[in-house]
Amino acid sequence: MPLEKDNRRLSGARILGIESSCDETAAAVVEDGTRILSSVVASQMETHGQYGGVVPELASREHLKAIVPVVRAALARAGTDYDGLSAIAVTYGPGLVGALLVGLTYAKALALARALPLIGVNHIEGHIHAVISQARGSGEPVGYPALALVVSGGHTHLFEVREGLRYRLLGRTRDDAAGEAFDKVAKLLGFSYPGGPIIDGLAPRGNPKAVRFTLAHMKGNALDFSFSGLKTAVLRWVRQQGMEAEIERRRELQRSVPQPTLEQWMEATPQATLDLLASFQHTVIQELLLRAAAAAEEIEARSLIVSGGVASNAGLRAAARAAQFPCPVHFPAPGLSTDNAAMIAAAAFPKFERGDFADFTLAAQANLALAE
Ligand code: KG4
Ligand code: ZN
Repeated sequence: MPLEKDNRRLSGARILGIESSCDETAAAVVEDGTRILSSVVASQMETHGQYGGVVPELASREHLKAIVPVVRAALARAGTDYDGLSAIAVTYGPGLVGALLVGLTYAKALALARALPLIGVNHIEGHIHAVISQARGSGEPVGYPALALVVSGGHTHLFEVREGLRYRLLGRTRDDAAGEAFDKVAKLLGFSYPGGPIIDGLAPRGNPKAVRFTLAHMKGNALDFSFSGLKTAVLRWVRQQGMEAEIERRRELQRSVPQPTLEQWMEATPQATLDLLASFQHTVIQELLLRAAAAAEEIEARSLIVSGGVASNAGLRAAARAAQFPCPVHFPAPGLSTDNAAMIAAAAFPKFERGDFADFTLAAQANLALAE
């Protein structure tokens, strides 16, 4: 698209990022691809919590309500207005199509009204960039080839990332994503959505060796993942142990308190269940790190990037440190693991430098792939 203003200043370039692919409405201003001037996230947790998962229609409606105030807050906190921006970046997939459309349509309207270039960003590339740009900003850039383990509520992928940001898919989940497994196990045990942070908080109080779950054996690509068998094994365990009464107690807690604290969950969770949670989390972590180690060896990775919502898991971080990978391991800073727009603005920066702009035909793509 033609540039009506000189927006392509490469130094001091400020990109407004917009993210609405799932259940967070987010906007951020990032300077030069690394300096986060603001990052605002409006979570819909309270809306979806009572349903035990994201309800797409409600997500779109909540995005519509939040998008204008969230973008305004991001600009205000960054101390800038539209004239101070160099481009608008927006997630166009993968994700819920109705949710994506809210951010995408708003970004297009802003770009048109303010004569700013529009940059389309893949959400998964955003998660990877949360780490790449943070590492660059701290003066210890990631080495290439890098192995990226993207673990969130919608994705569990292993990518090889080569110099010049070329991606190759090495493995992916064949059924549930890792975050989805956390959420489903939490739900069946009577905890609220999202279950990942709750299990993360409770697992250290349990014995991770108490229940021995078998690891998934993958036929075909050994770098693929599977978590549905583990979820079924937890369900079987729950039925065998007759845990209905305590599960009902936690459902009751959810009904009486909108967002119970960790202490309240603790009080409603017997030791045997804490052991079950610890064992489940331990198994997920093993699945992730075993395959990451094999993939890192296969591509002779010079760095490992772990990113996505599950990357905030304290047990995963500790286990990755203890595993002594032969290359540096990079995790996102707090606030950059789960969905945010700073990662979208950061991922847009290399595209901005290349002049890789989208036009107004850019469409939302629910199943957008980063690499085959
Ligand atoms: O990246 P994200 O915000 O959204 C997607 O792109 O999916 O990830 C959300 C997922 C949810 O499944 C949530 O339960 C999980 O990340 N999650 C966690 C933790 N924090 C969020 N899982 C385990 N431990 C955590 N601390
Ligand atoms: Zn995400």
